[in-house]
Amino acid sequence: VSALRVRPAVANDATFLAEMLAVAADWRPGSMARPVASVLADPAIAHYVDGWPRHTDVGVVAESDGAPVGAAWWRFLPADDPGYGFVDVSTPEISIGVRVDQRGRGVGTALLSELLRTADGARLETTSLSVEVDNPAVRLYLRAGFEVLATSDGAHTMVRRRPDPI
Ligand SMILES: CC(C)(COP(=O)(O)OP(=O)(O)OC[C@H]1O[C@@H](n2cnc3c(N)ncnc32)[C@H](O)[C@@H]1OP(=O)(O)O)[C@@H](O)C(=O)NCCC(=O)NCCS
Repeated sequence: VSALRVRPAVANDATFLAEMLAVAADWRPGSMARPVASVLADPAIAHYVDGWPRHTDVGVVAESDGAPVGAAWWRFLPADDPGYGFVDVSTPEISIGVRVDQRGRGVGTALLSELLRTADGARLETTSLSVEVDNPAVRLYLRAGFEVLATSDGAHTMVRRRPDPI
């Protein structure tokens, strides 16, 4: 068993983040995983990683034996170019993806908890994401404290509020 390490995402991770964005977009088992370039040809998807890192972008990368296996990150998007999980301009939207051959062993859980720890530390009031209603990842998000804010076109917009300090 190889040790898992979660570290901050840096500028050099742009290509890997784009790969993870592509696997997140094509999450459905049995559906063809498209090449990264064709996923990024859709501006509604590409805007989650374009020009990474912008100065308000924050992300984490999971490494196993020194090789990246998954990533999670947030980005603030403007009201005139909203993401699928847009709530408001002060709520960044989270993207998360784990390499197909590395799923189901806790990588996604580790990535999300580290990113949310960072969000809470940065005093972000809310974070959001968009997930299709039949994606098993919904359970991961509910466990992490996200709630369904709205549902349309087969996808939930989920929001997590920063927990009150004890
Ligand atoms: C969702 C995802 C990031 C979770 O990462 P992971 O490392 O597989 O997660 P974990 O091992 O920590 O397990 C957490 C949850 O992920 C989901 N999961 C686990 N293995 C999975 C697999 N092989 N395929 C899809 N989802 C899986 C399950 O819902 C699991 O929770 P459960 O045990 O209550 O069912 C990852 O499976 C993935 O990249 N999926 C495809 C992309 C995607 O759907 N991204 C989110 C779009 S909103």
